[in-house]
Amino acid sequence: MSRQTTYAVGDRVEATVGPVAHGGHMVARVPVPAGPDHEASTVVVFVRHALPDERVVIEITDVAKRFLRGDAVEVLEPSPDRVPAPCSLSGPGGCGGCDFQHVALPAQRRLKAAVVAEQLQRLAGLEVPVDVKMVPGAPDGLHWRTRMQYVGLPGGGHGLRKNHSHDVVPVPECLIEAPGARIVLAGEPPSRGTITETVRDRTFEVAADGFWQVHPGAPETLVSAVLGLLAPQPGERAMDLYAGVGLFTAFLAEAVGPTGSVVSIEGDRRASDLAVSNLADLRNVKIKAGRVDRVLIDLDTMADIVVLDPPREGARKQVVDAVVDLAPRAVAYVACDPAALARDLSYFAARGYRLAELRSFDLFPMTHHVECVALVERSY
Ligand SMILES: C[S@@+](CC[C@H](N)C(=O)[O-])C[C@H]1O[C@@H](n2cnc3c(N)ncnc32)[C@H](O)[C@@H]1O
Repeated sequence: MSRQTTYAVGDRVEATVGPVAHGGHMVARVPVPAGPDHEASTVVVFVRHALPDERVVIEITDVAKRFLRGDAVEVLEPSPDRVPAPCSLSGPGGCGGCDFQHVALPAQRRLKAAVVAEQLQRLAGLEVPVDVKMVPGAPDGLHWRTRMQYVGLPGGGHGLRKNHSHDVVPVPECLIEAPGARIVLAGEPPSRGTITETVRDRTFEVAADGFWQVHPGAPETLVSAVLGLLAPQPGERAMDLYAGVGLFTAFLAEAVGPTGSVVSIEGDRRASDLAVSNLADLRNVKIKAGRVDRVLIDLDTMADIVVLDPPREGARKQVVDAVVDLAPRAVAYVACDPAALARDLSYFAARGYRLAELRSFDLFPMTHHVECVALVERSY
């Protein structure tokens, strides 16, 4: 019997759960007995619905070449951080939308901090103390998500997918959905409508199905972190890369003032067009539509400060190199995936730019997701 066929989907095995891992699960190891072609060993199981140090019964849900996935279906020795899940649809075999409904909110933030620290250590060789801060707007971690994407059900109603599955669980009421949330059904044709969002004294028109942060406290939290870390000075040249409808561009432009400038680059044509109208009053802003890597190559300019807010996959080496070629004194990197952030920080480090400060925010309570803002500065 080879290692990977020792366990089959549906098998149950008892284990003590180890640390949290990136992706909303914990790591456990279960025994693999000796076979004709291998000695006795252990195999990793990524366990959902568990907590570190708990003794649980794991039901295997997926068998991959080098690891297993499983759900904690019985908790024999619970963690003090375990709470009854507010949502009855979460748990083994249930909705895959939330990973941490069974975890007290302060402990959710500690788990996320451990993941960020681990990713920075493993992928960028950085030892950084991480503290994930609560964000105003959802004290109980519920009813915060202002945009929801559901899957329509054949007989009416909607649902969300199970974890690692195409199966859909009907969700008549989602507890993280905010009252009045914008609801989109997967596969619907693009919407032509827009929504108006207000941040500080400015309004931003956003496509109804376009990108805008989903936590009501997120725009102010992130603007404040970015401005606080970069400390833009009057007269500085700024760049806002992956700029969306111009959230950071607007406040950078106000901060650098009429003697400074902001170049704003966004790949989605509709978002870029909306940025033009959202920022029409700011004479020191230039908006460029196109892919960041392509637009940067054609730009014959330098920058003092840069905001980098890429999608989940991160900026990657080519864009990091192009940013370093602008010779900025500081970069604020806004990241929704700590693994992509850590990888890109290692590219910055190779070019002489070091992580100077990291702030982390719980913009996605009940899920494993976490947002970071990293200040990267020239170290030479
Ligand atoms: C995380 S959002 C940030 C948007 C904006 N900074 C905000 O806070 O509202 C990432 C943005 O990058 C855009 N994008 C994705 N890939 C891109 C690329 N290669 N070049 C330019 N923009 C891109 C998306 O359309 C999206 O608007």
